[in-house]
Amino acid sequence: MARLAQRITLVTGSGNGIGKATALVFAAEGAHVHIADLDAAAAEATAAAIHTAGGQATAHTTDVTRGQDVTQLFRAIAAAHGKLDVLVNNAGLNVRTDFRHLTDEQWVKIRDVNLDGVIRMARDGFELLKASGHGSLINVASIMGSRAMRQLVAYSTTKGAVAALTRGLAVEYAPYNIRVNTISPGFIATALTKQILRNPAVTDALVAETAMRRLGEAEEIARAILFFASDDSTYCTGSELVVDGGMTASL
Ligand SMILES: NC(=O)c1ccc[n+]([C@@H]2O[C@H](COP(=O)([O-])OP(=O)(O)OC[C@H]3O[C@@H](n4cnc5c(N)ncnc54)[C@H](O)[C@@H]3O)[C@@H](O)[C@H]2O)c1
Repeated sequence: MARLAQRITLVTGSGNGIGKATALVFAAEGAHVHIADLDAAAAEATAAAIHTAGGQATAHTTDVTRGQDVTQLFRAIAAAHGKLDVLVNNAGLNVRTDFRHLTDEQWVKIRDVNLDGVIRMARDGFELLKASGHGSLINVASIMGSRAMRQLVAYSTTKGAVAALTRGLAVEYAPYNIRVNTISPGFIATALTKQILRNPAVTDALVAETAMRRLGEAEEIARAILFFASDDSTYCTGSELVVDGGMTASL
């Protein structure tokens, strides 16, 4: 039996990487997936891949930093389904710089997407998640939210805040039967980590620090997100699931 049959789902940043893998896994499990990405062509490509595989998907061009885009997105989902069962806040970006050189513009840019975007989506999506009767909100943070690495201070700060936001929302949304959980991936080869992983010495060092001696695949994160999205996790809220091949355990 498909684990997300009849479920209406929304994944931000699902034009690429972890979000795209999540959309494909959700669709294969029977969900209707709303693909929301800043990159219109990438969103359409994910939806097309789902349609080709016989699944259900709708592509939206959405910038999570723009209030009017988010309003329009939820209006479209309300008109089509009147509810939302699963919301995955996955859209995110990284700005790598020594902290002392971080400009105001860089900080606003990363905070806008990684934190303010998640806050906006979690707030404005509330009514539709409530209408589900068993809503599941999943925020994609990072092991960097509770660990440190040079040049990732701004990124870590936003991800730590997302983990705190998850715990707060878990308490506040529980009376409405909305579960709120965090997935914290380790290192996955995607566009986001391309710059870091371009340096073979850095990649080798990261792999050496990982108990399983390899980087993760986007689909391995998607399958963990599926756990929180599905009825396999009905007693989980305010939880953080670390999916990092044992990187944080092995220090
Ligand atoms: N790749 C990793 O190693 C890793 C590790 C830990 C956490 N994460 C987190 O996972 C999430 C996905 O990362 P990824 O590696 O798949 O990145 P990615 O760069 O491959 O994909 C990110 C997607 O988000 C979209 N996006 C960016 N800004 C947006 C905005 N304002 N509105 C809507 N969409 C927007 C991009 O267009 C892109 O399609 C991020 O939140 C990231 O911080 C990634």
